[in-house]
Amino acid sequence: MSSLNKIARTLVSNRRGILAADESIGTMSTRLEKVGVEATAENRRLYRELIVTTPQLAESISGIILADETFYQKLSNGRTFPEYLSDIGILAGIKVDTGAKALAGAPGEKITEGLDGLRERVEEYARLGATFAKWRAVITIGDSVPSDRAVHANAHALARYAGLCQEGGLVPIVEPEVLMDGSHSLATCQKVTTSVIRTVFDQLELMKVQLDGIVLKPNMVVAGSESSEQPSVEDVANATVDALRASVPPSVPGIAFLSGGQRPEVATENLAAMQNIDSLPWELTYSFGRALVGPALETWRGESANEAAAQGALSERAVANASAR
Ligand code: 13P
Repeated sequence: MSSLNKIARTLVSNRRGILAADESIGTMSTRLEKVGVEATAENRRLYRELIVTTPQLAESISGIILADETFYQKLSNGRTFPEYLSDIGILAGIKVDTGAKALAGAPGEKITEGLDGLRERVEEYARLGATFAKWRAVITIGDSVPSDRAVHANAHALARYAGLCQEGGLVPIVEPEVLMDGSHSLATCQKVTTSVIRTVFDQLELMKVQLDGIVLKPNMVVAGSESSEQPSVEDVANATVDALRASVPPSVPGIAFLSGGQRPEVATENLAAMQNIDSLPWELTYSFGRALVGPALETWRGESANEAAAQGALSERAVANASAR
């Protein structure tokens, strides 16, 4: 077994999943301000310390994706975040893209940037304790979108990122997110998701990415958040698994879903329903951000008196998702 395959399997096995705590400085600041906390580097550090020091987290969380800022910060005990995660048996990951920007020639669509200097950054993150990385591509459904241009540009960038990570010894989490925004149907989301993931794997193969050394992080197949017809949990589970069967090679060890703005309980129910479907070649797990930490942030609100309750809220979601598996 290669070391990349071993890391990928550790991330998705034993009923554990990944916690995405890698919000950019801008996104994290907005989320803190929404709960009345001033958006400073110290408050972002405090919040992330609260998350990673939640008791028994390693029982349900295999890896935590960190933002660049957090990667270099220290906990109150003097350990860096990657060092502390290693101490408690959780793999440290790092978000390496630099965000989604407007794509030229494709009004309303985005391309994720961050390839420049990536080889050197991967080398540095690996030296400081990262074992895996993340890159998020964003695909929008709407009138005449996604365009082939946006899908191909994003799939190409994901594949070049994945190749550079593997060369530097990091397992790439390959995240093509088809957004929930819009009024499209479940069937449209299934069609777009299938075609996007197929294009991503065409590009991964073209770039000679070792497929047993990646984790795919897709959206679940759902109807648009503004659609009047919301499917049942079973319909979401079946449509998601059908899309994956039609697009993901069996050599991929695991698929870890993003939550994408679904309510935490709904994301967990959808994940649980997929586990009842037989004969899937890959592990199906979670790599949630908001669906894991949302309730904890709402509970914390920057008050030290709320810390234990906030950690309790995170534990509850983490245990529920591990049980769903
Ligand atoms: P959500 O689960 O909040 O969608 O975040 C997952 C993630 O990592 C997005 O890149």
